[in-house]
Amino acid sequence: MDLKELQKHVVGLDEEVILLDGTRTKYVNFDNAASTPTLLPVQEKVNEFCKWYSNVHRGTGFKSQLSSWVFEEARNIIARFVGADAHSAVIFCKNTTEAINKLAWRFQCPIISRMAGEAEKPVILTSVMEHHSNELPWRKVGKVIHIDIKPDGTVNHDDLCDKIVKYTGRICLVAISGASNVTGYINPIHEYAERAHAAGAQIAVDAAQLAPHRSIDIKAKDDPQHIDYLAFSAHKMYAPFGIGVLVADRSVFEHGDPDYVGGGTVDIVDLESAYWKDLPEREEAGTPDIVGVVALAKVVTLIEQVGFDSIIEHEAELTSYALQKLSLMPEVVIYGDKDPTNARNRLGVISLNVMGMDHALVSAILSYEGGIGVRNGCFCAHPYVKSLLGVTPEDAKEVEKHILARDRSKIPGTIRISFGLYNTKEEIDRFCDALNMIIRKQYKGNYVVNKERGEYYPEGFQIDFSKFFTL
Ligand SMILES: Cc1ncc(COP(=O)(O)O)c(C=O)c1O
Repeated sequence: MDLKELQKHVVGLDEEVILLDGTRTKYVNFDNAASTPTLLPVQEKVNEFCKWYSNVHRGTGFKSQLSSWVFEEARNIIARFVGADAHSAVIFCKNTTEAINKLAWRFQCPIISRMAGEAEKPVILTSVMEHHSNELPWRKVGKVIHIDIKPDGTVNHDDLCDKIVKYTGRICLVAISGASNVTGYINPIHEYAERAHAAGAQIAVDAAQLAPHRSIDIKAKDDPQHIDYLAFSAHKMYAPFGIGVLVADRSVFEHGDPDYVGGGTVDIVDLESAYWKDLPEREEAGTPDIVGVVALAKVVTLIEQVGFDSIIEHEAELTSYALQKLSLMPEVVIYGDKDPTNARNRLGVISLNVMGMDHALVSAILSYEGGIGVRNGCFCAHPYVKSLLGVTPEDAKEVEKHILARDRSKIPGTIRISFGLYNTKEEIDRFCDALNMIIRKQYKGNYVVNKERGEYYPEGFQIDFSKFFTL
């Protein structure tokens, strides 16, 4: 299987959606950073497995034994995919958010007990670039200190070094994204790992965006550049069947109580005590998403066959093409790297705005009149987007007031397009044509805003989704 072949096997690629004028058109999905569609070989593997499906670990029946074997084989495939050895545990979760929360719940900062008072809390160093899922969980663990970003939106390396020096002795973890879901910037995670380890800290990488687009090698534990914790989601890498992964230094999870307890986590229980199982079972309470795990293992083997080189090549070509075309539109503002020649060094995630137009309105028109799915808003990275947009603290306070009064129509934000391995230049042409039509104000609908939701709808138009899908 090569990339060209795989591109023909994206599920739902030919589906048509309805437009405001009642016609139908093939959908363009430029929202891959949120979730990707699945691939036919993945769907087929899931269907094939469903014939054998049974619960894992607890049954002596043939199907249960087979399912247990498949489940552990899949775990090995995923461990190999990220270079995890026996020092790391591959723990299945729901998604990246759950994986990071699980880690934060169990992560003990060794210096916390020695310190007294608020000012002396252990430090988690993270960046302004982070998705909320790699920011909010850490607030429970220690004092979160943010590495600044530079005016171009990249992480400020000098600030990272300064803060590591300033907080040495207090930093227990550097928690950083592998790549941004807003600008597509890729962070030098191994360089950060080396710096974190030199300061006596560990590193956790939120690889939700990185894992679908770049190969990851967490490296051996004795390598100063190794990654201690890695989290990613299958639904962003063509296997949207409900799982995420936490690859973790075993030592954190080997002692103490799991976050969730119950069936599957214990060796023996009496009315007063319980003895936890070994990893990873002790951290996977209840029946796991076995089908999701099969899907992820299948997609991983497909990506390995196709090779990341061809995926990078293809997505960089799309990114470069899109940036070139967008640069010809003076009304379009791009946030982050605008250089088409640099496309190989970033992901195909582009945030933009049309000058003088609300991001929510532009996104709505793209959908209702172009059949193009993008995302708009702050992408669960409020501090980063506000910083890219230059929102002042006073303006931010004003917006906060509106939101608290249930008016989301004034939320600052951008429009995000994000490419997957199957998107095409023709789709970019369609997007740019639609954007030009919007800029020239040639759209047909009379759009009204629903303030509570912060979304625009064309007046008098209602979609009957049951014509497309029923349960
Ligand atoms: C960088 C980043 N981290 C974390 C997440 C959260 O992923 P999930 O929704 O799968 O938990 C996302 C989702 O968009 C993301 O882009």
